[in-house]
Amino acid sequence: MNPELDALKPYPFERLKALMAGVTPPADLTHIPLSIGEPQHAPPTSVLESLNHHVGAVARYPSTLGLPELRATIADWATRRFNLAPQSLDPQRQVLPVNGTREAIFAFVQAALDRSRPARVAVPNPFYQIYEGATLLAGGQPLYLDCRADKGFLPDLEAVPAAAWREVQLVFVCSPGNPTGAVTPLEDFKRLIALADEHDFIVASDECYSELYLDESAPPPGLLEACAALGRHDYRRCIVFHSLSKRSNLPGLRSGFVAGDEALIAPFARYRTYHGCAMSLQVQQASTVAWGDEAHVQANREIYRQTFAAVVECLAPVLDFPSPQASFYLWPAVPDGDDETFARELYSQQHVTVLPGRYMSRESSQGNPGNGRVRMALVADPDTTLEAARRIRRFIEEHY
Ligand SMILES: Cc1ncc(COP(=O)(O)O)c(C=O)c1O
Repeated sequence: MNPELDALKPYPFERLKALMAGVTPPADLTHIPLSIGEPQHAPPTSVLESLNHHVGAVARYPSTLGLPELRATIADWATRRFNLAPQSLDPQRQVLPVNGTREAIFAFVQAALDRSRPARVAVPNPFYQIYEGATLLAGGQPLYLDCRADKGFLPDLEAVPAAAWREVQLVFVCSPGNPTGAVTPLEDFKRLIALADEHDFIVASDECYSELYLDESAPPPGLLEACAALGRHDYRRCIVFHSLSKRSNLPGLRSGFVAGDEALIAPFARYRTYHGCAMSLQVQQASTVAWGDEAHVQANREIYRQTFAAVVECLAPVLDFPSPQASFYLWPAVPDGDDETFARELYSQQHVTVLPGRYMSRESSQGNPGNGRVRMALVADPDTTLEAARRIRRFIEEHY
């Protein structure tokens, strides 16, 4: 087998399982997992109905490019959502359906990296581990950009020396961020685009949490929006990744899209033709319904808003965390700085699982930016999540 597979690091959940081995939580408390970022709210009925209605379409092969009506619906959605110039995002040439952003992120890196020269991929640190694994399997090396509290949990672009940028072929942005929830401001996207032009790299923006935000009047900006604001209507060097998993509570549908520069999308479509990852027609039909409706997304945000309000009120007196704006995560510092012990003891005493921050990040010259923090995914219904928060508070008050 490919020896590069050995370079893949254990996935955070494997490490969590090992951490909890041998621990027996109290049997009288139900388990509340805050460790996994899997949405638990109900998916929209209209999408499920469409899925059922089109089940017969599995009798046909889908095409890699996808149905024109799906691509047109996506282009309309992205144009509205990110204030793009009308008709500037061509559904035929600048949009591709993908089977969720995880699949697309992995595949895009394989298609994008040029192995004949140094292939650095800049990733936020802490980060979603697929960026790193995809890079290693494509023969590249990650360049970790620390996201620390003093910089608002955003990468410090100015701290990267020009010599390092010159080896970078691809930069991942994750906004809103997993696990920090930090939202990349439009100005940072613009700066990154300027750096991409200067040093000839691609900007890949993972925006799978973009529709989960707390302030209805302030949706997080996106990379294509920054392009539009710069008058860069061809979206040169830029590609975005979007998903129905969080927006519409459809993580099992495996449906998302990529959009952006035609010079990136066309070769990526060619790669995908060989890879064989066309989206099934039934899923394409259901996805068209999902991207065409905002009411269910607003209702979804409203539930997260209730959850966050209750959990923040409960935990703010005992934990320090960045004020949540978007995504469904809290990223608190643990009271004594030992994230692994906190997670293990919390599970052992309160039957609540959280993810140690260090499992999502790597050592850098200034230490590991995930050390001393834990990730809490507030994905269950508001009552269950508040119950978890109450147990966490009790645990902290008793032990720290
Ligand atoms: C930052 C980030 N990107 C991408 C994904 C993949 O999501 P999906 O493949 O369901 O679109 C996740 C899933 O948790 C994530 O946290």
